[in-house]
Amino acid sequence: MTGSMKSVAFGLVLLLGACGGSKSTSGSTGKVSAIEAMGVTPPDSPWGEMSVADKEFYMIGKVNPIMKELFAAHDAEEFAGFDCVDCHGEEMREIDFKMPAPSMYIVPPEGTPGHRGMLSTFPEMVKFMQETVTPAMGKLIGVENFTCAGCHPSAPKTKG
Ligand code: HEC
Ligand code: HEC
Repeated sequence: MTGSMKSVAFGLVLLLGACGGSKSTSGSTGKVSAIEAMGVTPPDSPWGEMSVADKEFYMIGKVNPIMKELFAAHDAEEFAGFDCVDCHGEEMREIDFKMPAPSMYIVPPEGTPGHRGMLSTFPEMVKFMQETVTPAMGKLIGVENFTCAGCHPSAPKTKG
């Protein structure tokens, strides 16, 4: 079931790729842009009403390729191999893709010394997260007020 859904999703990407191919392609690489082909738009059904299988299908077919492009545009070298695991963490299968992934970088609450430390250590990354990643994720799943906490833990794990 999951396997066949995955092949459908990959087929969809290829199909969309083929359609976009006749139009303009971005850059000189000849690759078709997922952002141009699909758009940073919400799913057809409300996110909260989608089954986990449909969410996975949507992640594979749309969220992952679009996010991959946004991260690569920010830093092509660092995010050359961008994939599910960058958001969901190495333990993603064991925890059924639960978000925020416990292994993700902890974003400390605003106003704390930890938060100020984050701003001085990762100024460029935080800007990219605030201006690009967070709003794009909210748009892709059609959820208003999506925040850092949708992907990053805000406090260390308290147990196990
Ligand atoms: C840019 C970050 C990002 C990437 C990349 C990403 N995901 Fe997700 N994914 C999320 C977020 C955020 C949620 C939770 C959204 C919510 O419900 O608030 C989620 C939810 C899911 C869920 C639903 C979990 C549940 O129980 O509701 C599945 C399944 C999933 N992702 C699979 C994948 C797979 C497979 C890939 C790679 C093809 C992938 N994701 C790539 C951010 C990402
Ligand atoms: C859609 C998911 C998502 C959202 C929302 C998000 N981030 Fe991120 N963030 C990521 C991913 C993916 C990375 C890169 C992880 C990696 O290097 O594999 C990252 C990396 C970072 C890093 C760099 C950490 C390090 O160790 O290099 C910081 C700092 C950060 N995020 C802060 C924020 C802040 C602040 C917000 C809210 C304004 C935010 N993020 C929102 C997914 C997200």
